Amino acid sequence: MEGVTDSGLATLPASDRPDVAARLRTALLGASFTADGLLDLLGAPAYAALARSETVPALRATRGDTPLETLVRLFLLQQPVPYARVAGVLPADDLLDSGWLNRVGGDEVAATVDVRPYGGSDGEDWFIVSDLGCAVGGAGGIGRRHEGVVLGVGGASTTLAGITVRTPVAAALDLGTGSGIQALHAAQHATRVTATDLNPRALHITALTLALSGVPAAELREGSLFEPVKEGETFDLIVSNPPFVISPGARLTYRDGGMSGDDLCRSLVQQAGERLNEGGFAQFLANWQHVAGEDWQDRVRSWVPRGCDAWIVQREVQDVNQYAELWLRDSGDHRGDPAEYQAQYDAWLDEFEARKVKGVGFGWITLRRTSAAVPSVTVEEWPHPIEQPLGETIRAHFDRLDYLRDHDDADLLEGHFRLAVEVVQEQVGLPGAEDPEHVVLRQHRGMRRATKVDTVGAGFAGVCDGTLSAGRILDAIAQLMGEDPVLLRDRTPAQIRLLVEQGFLEPAV
Ligand SMILES: C[S@@+](CC[C@H](N)C(=O)[O-])C[C@H]1O[C@@H](n2cnc3c(N)ncnc32)[C@H](O)[C@@H]1O
Repeated sequence: MEGVTDSGLATLPASDRPDVAARLRTALLGASFTADGLLDLLGAPAYAALARSETVPALRATRGDTPLETLVRLFLLQQPVPYARVAGVLPADDLLDSGWLNRVGGDEVAATVDVRPYGGSDGEDWFIVSDLGCAVGGAGGIGRRHEGVVLGVGGASTTLAGITVRTPVAAALDLGTGSGIQALHAAQHATRVTATDLNPRALHITALTLALSGVPAAELREGSLFEPVKEGETFDLIVSNPPFVISPGARLTYRDGGMSGDDLCRSLVQQAGERLNEGGFAQFLANWQHVAGEDWQDRVRSWVPRGCDAWIVQREVQDVNQYAELWLRDSGDHRGDPAEYQAQYDAWLDEFEARKVKGVGFGWITLRRTSAAVPSVTVEEWPHPIEQPLGETIRAHFDRLDYLRDHDDADLLEGHFRLAVEVVQEQVGLPGAEDPEHVVLRQHRGMRRATKVDTVGAGFAGVCDGTLSAGRILDAIAQLMGEDPVLLRDRTPAQIRLLVEQGFLEPAV
């Protein structure tokens, strides 16, 4: 079949035709083929259905022949469209010539890749290129596709993009770049972006994503994990949404790392330390095993390389059955032969049983290279809603760690603090009771934490606007409450430390 490789995947558009990509970009923008344009055309329910891989509502919403409808059918819904209609919107001959489009019998043409409009964090109009039928992840499952299929943006992709620290840096590495989404974001704040992947098709697609989004090209390198990184080469930022799935055998390159258990994630984290510049961040999504008789926190803590602070957040835990089902559905195996499905399910459970794995944790790992004598490693479970983007919250967490590491209790009392924005106080107790049972401080931004405080803690936080030192505030509270100021100064620093650590209070410099 024309335009199809031996793997059954389409031949990709030429990545050495930036001129054609630029013309395609202009035409797409001219027809409002953007995230906002798509939402306007389809309406929220059809747009949301598309995100669940359900195309029927979008097909119904694009039965007209406006330029935008033509582009949605072509690039998101994999529909053949008459050449004449396409030529009215796009430089059709150039696109046929450079492989973005194929002739598919009669006078119709079809796209060779999916192109999904993607709005950048500052309102940029970007486009994510992926294999056909892979622009929108969701319930459909990837089906029985070739192992090298390259997916578009999924929930994990946007999670990592959201938690990434976005300070301007010289050199960033996107390891396992796939469609190039992380490299695309990194191009906004890194002078040099290196994108690697085991799968050459992913590197090709990343080049297309960057060119079509109108951002500078990245340096593309093929290879596994840190192999493509040169001897002595270091980065200010490393990001990776790796193939973290713990599966009984490698099958799909985008998700099955091919190493046993959670070894791929462990290797990635362990090897990242020496590739980071001082102060540089490495941020990963990861899965880790919960093994019988072992504390999962100890397991993941042991991955942290020397010379790095770390913040590890477990967002979710699934039991082994849920986990096997999730990934069997992801690959569409639940839609195949029932006996085969059962055998595959069995194989996943055999693998887990052999390793004494009871569940799998999913979360984020952030490392920051430090020269501190005693690095700080925080491992916590936080399954509650958070507010993305979280990159700034994560950067600030490490800044506060530095502050706390450098200030003992006496220093804290000399320090000035400010209540973080959008922290509120809630009083919890029986209706009608004169005094609350306890007082809770709650963040409405970032991690959206809540913490119980005593009357002193609540009063202290309420006064913190950076003007008075902590010690002076405590003296005033002691006077008001008729307490001994020396005792109050003695017992409160632990509470202040916790409030700073968790981001309720910020050191006022
Ligand atoms: C889950 S996808 C992530 C893609 C993209 N970065 C994102 O955030 O959507 C994982 C990517 O890692 C690549 N990969 C798989 N095994 C790898 C390995 N051993 N070394 C480097 N990359 C690998 C896959 O080809 C795939 O592109």
